Amino acid sequence: MRSAVLPAGSSSGRGVPVGCTAKSLDDPAELYHEASKYYPSCLERPPLAVGIAGQDASGEWLPTKSRSYLHAVQLPEPDAPALGLLQAIRARRSRISFEGRLTLSAVATLLFAAYGVTDPRNAGHLRRSVPSAGGLYPLDWYLASLTVEDLPRGLYHYEPSTHSLEVVSLQDVLPALEQAILTRELLRKAAAVFILTALFERSRRKYGLRAYRFVLLEAGHSMQNVLLMATCLGIDAIPIGGYLDAEFDRLLRVNGVDETTLYVAAAG
Ligand SMILES: Cc1cc2nc3c(=O)[nH]c(=O)nc-3n(C[C@H](O)[C@H](O)[C@H](O)COP(=O)(O)O)c2cc1C
Repeated sequence: MRSAVLPAGSSSGRGVPVGCTAKSLDDPAELYHEASKYYPSCLERPPLAVGIAGQDASGEWLPTKSRSYLHAVQLPEPDAPALGLLQAIRARRSRISFEGRLTLSAVATLLFAAYGVTDPRNAGHLRRSVPSAGGLYPLDWYLASLTVEDLPRGLYHYEPSTHSLEVVSLQDVLPALEQAILTRELLRKAAAVFILTALFERSRRKYGLRAYRFVLLEAGHSMQNVLLMATCLGIDAIPIGGYLDAEFDRLLRVNGVDETTLYVAAAG
C-alpha cells in the first residue's frame, strides 16, 4: 500500500506544515490549477482517453468498488420528507444542537441523497443522485455510527448498488473521531459522522490532472445533498473541513494517496 509522499506534519522548510503554508511564487495550488486547464490544443488531442461514460479507452468498465466486506446491513428505502427544496435551501444552516440519536431510516435517506442509485436500469452503469464527470463516480461514503438506532457503533461503507452499509469495523469509533476532528465540540451528542473519500484513479484514468478538480466538485454536490436532506428531515448537520487527514485515513484503513478523506459531516 502506498503512503503519502510527505510524512505527517511535514515542514515546508520554514517550520510551517506544508498544508498550512502561505502563498509563494511556486504556490502548488496555482501550479496545479494552471496545469489542469483545458486549452484549444487539448481538444485536438484529448488529454487522455475519451471513452463513453463509465468506460476507459479500451472500453473496459472501470471498477467502482474499492474493496470487499464480509457483512452488510440492508438499509430501508429512503423517506419522502415533507419539506420542499426551496424551503430547505432557505432553512439550511450548520447546526450542532444534536438530539443525540438518528434513526436507521434517516441515515438511509441521507446516504441515498448523498450518492444513492437513482436509475438502476443499466446494471453496468448505475446513475446516482449527483452529477459525475464522465459518470465515473470516484467517491465513497463511510458512516461512523455512534448512536444510530438499530446500527451498532462502528464504521460502515455505503454501497450504493445495494443501498446497504458494509461493515468495516465494529469497534468504538468515538476515540478515533475525537483524535481526527479538530473541534471536539462538534462531536458532542452527534449520532453519526459521515465521511466522504475519493478513489482518484477512477477519474484520473480518463481526465488526467483535471480529474482532481472534478472529484472535488462532485464532493460538493454530494455533501450539499446531505445537508439539504438533513434540513428536510429536521436533523442538525454540519460540514467539517477541520480535521487531521491522516487520522481519518487511518480510521478508514485507506492509504491517503490512492484513496483519501475529502470531506466530513456530523449529524444527529
Ligand atoms: C468546506 C467547509 C468546511 C467547514 N468546516 C468546518 C469545521 O471544520 N468546523 C466548523 O465548525 N464548521 C465548518 N464549516 C461550517 C461553516 O462554518 C458554516 O458553513 C458557515 O459558518 C456558514 O454557516 P451556515 O452553514 O449555517 O450557513 C465548514 C463549511 C464548509 C463549506
